Amino acid sequence: MAAMSDTFPLALTTACDWLRVKELEEQQRSLLRSVVCGFNQLLDLRDLNTGIHSTRLAEWAVRVARKLGLPETDLYQLEVAALLHDIGKIGIPDAILRKEGKLTDEERALMNKHPEYSWSILRLFPGFDKASLYALHHHESFDGRGYPGGLKAEEIPIGSRIVAVVDAYDAMISNRCYRKGLAHEEAARRLNAGMGTQFDPAVVCTFLETAEREVAEVFAVTGASPSAVI
Ligand SMILES: [Fe+2]
Repeated sequence: MAAMSDTFPLALTTACDWLRVKELEEQQRSLLRSVVCGFNQLLDLRDLNTGIHSTRLAEWAVRVARKLGLPETDLYQLEVAALLHDIGKIGIPDAILRKEGKLTDEERALMNKHPEYSWSILRLFPGFDKASLYALHHHESFDGRGYPGGLKAEEIPIGSRIVAVVDAYDAMISNRCYRKGLAHEEAARRLNAGMGTQFDPAVVCTFLETAEREVAEVFAVTGASPSAVI
């Protein structure tokens, strides 16, 4: 009996500690979600993306990642990278970001720093190690001609290869004030043309299959209709 009364309070304490740890973990997750939303809002305010574009990007990225068999534990990291991969553009002067003509070599070199700036911001947050890495490499090319690392094929983190494809597609089909978005067929043709050079062929194939089957669903989930954008 004595042994039972000794162990019971201990078990209760352990259970309370466990609940407290779970509560703190949930608070940390909630705080990080708020940070991501805040950063996304900041990008909107600086006119560096649009809320709908980035939300749709995250939706496409997660769908493609699931089909490619990425572990569920990496999907939130990918979602964060899809939303915030360009956060480093905040460090690029407006005269370069908003320049209408061709960038000089010097301006281009500065512009190409934005993935490193994104990485340097995202890596500061606990648990964003993969998200920061995906952001760092989102302008690598499958053939090794991208930046900042000149990584090739599977050397490029899979999250970065996915962000590169979905970002390119969504940018192509989106209307901008200075041009109308491309039709899906033309955007698909350009992705196909970039397979093996700019883009990972497996990601392009999986993305295009997903886009053809799930476009209406993705636009419905993210609060827009394809006809409003395409
Ligand atoms: Fe970028």
